[in-house]
Amino acid sequence: MKVFHSVRALRADLNRDRLKGSRVGFVPTMGNLHDGHLALLKQAKQTNDIVVCSIFVNALQFSLNEDWDKYPRTYQSDCEKLRETGCDYLFHPDDIEMYPNGLDTQSRVICPTMTDVLCGASRPGHFEGVTTVVSKLFNIVQPDEAIFGIKDYQQLAVIRRMVEDLCMPIQVTSAPIHREADGLAMSSRNRYITDEERPKVIVLKDALDWIASQIKIGNRNFSELEKAAAEQVEAAGFNVDYLTCSNSKTLDLAANDDSEITILGAIFTESARLIDNVSLSGS
Ligand code: PAF
Repeated sequence: MKVFHSVRALRADLNRDRLKGSRVGFVPTMGNLHDGHLALLKQAKQTNDIVVCSIFVNALQFSLNEDWDKYPRTYQSDCEKLRETGCDYLFHPDDIEMYPNGLDTQSRVICPTMTDVLCGASRPGHFEGVTTVVSKLFNIVQPDEAIFGIKDYQQLAVIRRMVEDLCMPIQVTSAPIHREADGLAMSSRNRYITDEERPKVIVLKDALDWIASQIKIGNRNFSELEKAAAEQVEAAGFNVDYLTCSNSKTLDLAANDDSEITILGAIFTESARLIDNVSLSGS
């Protein structure tokens, strides 16, 4: 695996690869890689000649009170995992390389839809930070295909919309949620969960599955379902950020005649905020 810290060096190699006709796949990450990330890379390898992974903990998508400074940075073990997975290029820029003019005057990419609900409601500015950095990364790597996990369902929907709106010639592919043995969705932030909380956090997935099972048997009283599921989460000792039945495409609140519904949830443990989702099609 070749490691690049500068935009210029990465571009030079990718330009050569493209001239030879190579198809480029891209997996953007913030590092602290787990099996979920590695599954994205394996998926990228199946349909591309060169696979690029980026590791950059993007300050622009964290608010001041969030965990940017303590976000786990595990560069050496990430490199080992990437090598074992067969990643071709790692792009690992520092803040100056990505934001040479500083954050305050950085031009931004704003997606005006789907970004102020769900995670966007409790993390103002988060998606603007994501769309800005992902656009920059797309411009740097110019991939044919970019792969994102469905665990960050809202992020995936927003990026798809950005790519469509801005005519970016990139195929955005989704990859299934990777789960621990008990069903907990894999996430870099799972390491914030305490030993005492760990057996209980599965209540988020259980609550989403319970709502899904109710919808499947014809219960479309979404607000009642959300309320009852929130009570299940609170009974396990966690605070609910949101548990919402949404239209899978628009992320508007689910309507009675919606056939594609995604149930999204976010809960707070003592020091982690966990998200998960379950989709129902033809429901
Ligand atoms: O999902 C992530 O890890 C980040 O939001 C991303 C897409 C790498 C942008 O910083």
